[in-house]
Amino acid sequence: MCGIVGIISDETKTADIIDSLKKLEYRGYDSSGIAFVKDGRIEVYKSVGKIEALKNSIKNLLDEKVEVGIAHTRWATHGQPNDINAHPHTDCTGKIAIVHNGIIENFRELRGMLEALGHKFKSDTDTEVIAHLIEEEYSGDLFEAVMKAIRKLDGAYAIGVIHSDHPDMIVAARKGSPLVIGIGEDTTILASDVTPIIRYTKDVIFLEDGDVALLKKGKVEIYRSSGEKVERRVQHINWDESAAEKGGYDHFMIKEIMEEPMVISSAMTGRVRSGRVDIPEIKEIDFSKIRRINLVACGTSYHAALFFKYFVEFHTDLDVLVEVSSEFRYRKPHVDKDTLTIAISQSGETADTLESIRLAKRLGSRIIAITNVVGSTITRESDISIMMNSGPEIGVAATKTYVAQLTVLLLLGLQIIEQRGFWAGRHEKIFDTLLRLPEVFSSILDSSDRIREIAEDFKDYNHFMYIGRGYGYPTALEGALKLKEISYIHAEGYPAGELKHGPIALLDENFPVFAIAPQDSLYQKMKSNIMECRARNAKIIALTTSENRDILQVADIILEVPKVPEELYPLVMSPVIQLFAYHVAVLKRHDPDKPRNLAKSVTVE
Ligand code: M6R
Repeated sequence: MCGIVGIISDETKTADIIDSLKKLEYRGYDSSGIAFVKDGRIEVYKSVGKIEALKNSIKNLLDEKVEVGIAHTRWATHGQPNDINAHPHTDCTGKIAIVHNGIIENFRELRGMLEALGHKFKSDTDTEVIAHLIEEEYSGDLFEAVMKAIRKLDGAYAIGVIHSDHPDMIVAARKGSPLVIGIGEDTTILASDVTPIIRYTKDVIFLEDGDVALLKKGKVEIYRSSGEKVERRVQHINWDESAAEKGGYDHFMIKEIMEEPMVISSAMTGRVRSGRVDIPEIKEIDFSKIRRINLVACGTSYHAALFFKYFVEFHTDLDVLVEVSSEFRYRKPHVDKDTLTIAISQSGETADTLESIRLAKRLGSRIIAITNVVGSTITRESDISIMMNSGPEIGVAATKTYVAQLTVLLLLGLQIIEQRGFWAGRHEKIFDTLLRLPEVFSSILDSSDRIREIAEDFKDYNHFMYIGRGYGYPTALEGALKLKEISYIHAEGYPAGELKHGPIALLDENFPVFAIAPQDSLYQKMKSNIMECRARNAKIIALTTSENRDILQVADIILEVPKVPEELYPLVMSPVIQLFAYHVAVLKRHDPDKPRNLAKSVTVE
């Protein structure tokens, strides 16, 4: 996730701005840059790779005192990670510099309009349009120009803007992406989170969506984008730097689970237009001509792929093949030029998935990658990449990226359903509910404390059976994977109907069952399977739909999610299985962020 820093002070050196930027390194980035006003001119320096490279590129200027400066760590979304696409971006005059976190959805239209007016663009980014828009609106008042420019933006942004004629100010604005302001005695500092601010002050203001702030030395004025002045509460924080990186949470894993409402919004940003799904990256693919879809993925990404198979096969006439990459790459799969291959990988570097792509390509298949890392090897070897836009995931266990994968796959599935002529009222309902999911997620995440209480009662079991049917099956697999990988408890994920073909022999009072049992079309079947488990004295935790009293007949513990169309249960149930695994791991005193023997990206086979 991009990181922003901006500082106004009499005492700041460029080295201080770079040091503050370093505090945002933990968010992940592929390039960085700095802009400051010196001798009445804006100077900009950028570098791909580590901040240290940026620091080296300005080593003669590190002791230079600057009145105002902005800096940025970029996590690429539009355009490759390189020096030109790195922030800050400038306008045609070179007097305005801007840093941005977020995605501008209407940047193509704006860029076309600005180019027609004669503006010259240097980068492939969505951000650069903001610099030119501000230039277009500027007539001596930077604050006014930013106000006017942001009213033309659709999408999400947190921005910091400086102008060489106004070395006493930074103008900042936020919509959808966070921004915090710290007001120290001689320093006013702007940042994406509190980590760089703590060194200067612990009194901070969290901007709200729609706020535009005028930062000067030792003071800040905040307005709504409509122009009305507002007061925001100054909050005193007691976090140290390590707590600040985690947003005050104990671990990255829980912080990332709590980010899921935002992750769903980002995954949908720019992909919904005029009330329909419209994923710009795949506009040249005619899904009515495709004969079958082949998905390759590993681990959690494989579970997302399995969900997609169930969804698309149920709602269209397409065959969807799904296979773990490590098997696919050594088989003789029936993939050809009429088969579209979709590789799912949060890291974009998984060796087996990469080899599967190469094999599918040799067989004539077109490749779409769904990944979270721009410029990763998988994006370079695929024909098309659809980014998950979740921001970097630091916890090794995939949580928010799984949610992003499911969101992107649902959008993709809906687009395929429409293009193949199967769109009906049911899909309207799925689509409308999907748009509301960020709110629904927030309410589910509120149950974290209750999930911890349940985790306390179950943490000492040595075995767990996760069961589900239909859309509940991939959720059962993912629930078992999350639990085993971070708590080291043996957990199996099974289709509930398969239990009686062997695994039921394991069950007794020491082998609890986590049943994925929403009130969907397979609920009665699922209930019978739960009864079979209960008859073996297994304790039952049922994850079901709110107000399902019927489940009380068979379950010991009930966890609930709001009622949604059944195709969306894998998504809304994800935070519950993740939180359960998280709390069990923490209660057992394991570090959920760094599970033993595992790596975040598996680049060996
Ligand atoms: O980066 P990828 O999505 O390709 O990674 C695939 C798996 O290695 C990954 O999902 C793994 O299973 C995680 N540890 C799950 O939490």
